[in-house]
Amino acid sequence: MENYRKITDDVLYVGASDRRLALFENIYPIERGVSYNSYLVLDEKTILLDTVDHSVSREFLANVEGALAGRKLDYLVVNHMEPDHCSVIAEIVLRYPEVKVVGNAKTIQMIKQFYSFDIDSHACIVKDGDTLSTGRHSFTFVFAPMVHWPEVMVAFDSYNGFLFSADAFGTFGALAGNLYADEYDFEKEWLDDARRYYINIVGKYGVQVVNTLKKAAALPIKMILPLHGPIWRENIGWFIDKYMTWASYKPEEKGLVIIYSSIYGNTADAMDVLASRCADLGVRNIHMYDASKTDVSVLVSECFRYSTIVFASPTYNAEIFPRMEMLLTELKAHAFQNRDAAVFENGTWALSAGRKMTEMLAAMKDIRLIEPMVSIKSSLKPDQLEAMDSIAAKIKATLA
Ligand code: FEO
Repeated sequence: MENYRKITDDVLYVGASDRRLALFENIYPIERGVSYNSYLVLDEKTILLDTVDHSVSREFLANVEGALAGRKLDYLVVNHMEPDHCSVIAEIVLRYPEVKVVGNAKTIQMIKQFYSFDIDSHACIVKDGDTLSTGRHSFTFVFAPMVHWPEVMVAFDSYNGFLFSADAFGTFGALAGNLYADEYDFEKEWLDDARRYYINIVGKYGVQVVNTLKKAAALPIKMILPLHGPIWRENIGWFIDKYMTWASYKPEEKGLVIIYSSIYGNTADAMDVLASRCADLGVRNIHMYDASKTDVSVLVSECFRYSTIVFASPTYNAEIFPRMEMLLTELKAHAFQNRDAAVFENGTWALSAGRKMTEMLAAMKDIRLIEPMVSIKSSLKPDQLEAMDSIAAKIKATLA
């Protein structure tokens, strides 16, 4: 059933939400689902900005058909060629054979890689800063490479100040009727997913995100229309500030995250002692996770959120426990940097996890290690409490 929505008299939301998918990109759990946003502008010429994932293609195609109400589609802008947004391009070209597909040279190359229809006869290739007028509306294409693929661009409509921002300013989470961030309690209901989305999807490319934010700062933006999650029309600066913090690899908050792996509970026990000692010293905003229990995408996001991180792992097959190793590998892959960190290791015979964790952290940029590392042999013993107190005091000092 068509279910398109009016944003203005001539700008329509034609996307849809998926609450069935378990793993976004077949890796990130999305308990709250995800929306695939698409926008249709009914000007003298009609212009569709991006398509959707195939999972919601039925709703999307009904929306486009209903919203066009018999008009032909003149343009399809492809801001991003990842399949969660480009899966329906071939179907759109089939249904609207006169459509011009607007993209840059890399976009068109990727369309050729994904599809075998004749894109050359539909292609309208734009360069950075080019403008396309559809009547009242005038779309300027601003390239945003690596936010989050190399071909990504955003489109700014100078008629109404709308920024069609591709993946930027997107979030996990399906829409529930309301289209706008100000219609939800975004900070309470969405921010954790927005952070997890940004860090895990785009987090590696902070430099490119900062460059795009600087370009966007020059535009008189009235509304941000991303490809996932709600649209921003109020408090835009607040969300841009969050992006700037994440993209600059600065902690969002002073706070302590303790992440441990524990096979039989002894490393967990030691970390509970550490958390209590920190709390006794007045440390607040402490968060604890078992790396085997909590998805690594959440752990990566929490590490980006807070300023001081404790990593604790038993030695397992003479290596770091696999879940902890996965976390450290993911942090490196996402360019994690600029944090205070402490390492704890456990082992019953040959301890090696601590040295290996330290090496992995040393390979990341500006990780300030809180030393000396505490090594536990099987279980924490009373004669190690002094060392725990010393580390707790040093952790507290990082949070001042
Ligand atoms: Fe939502 Fe990079 O795709």
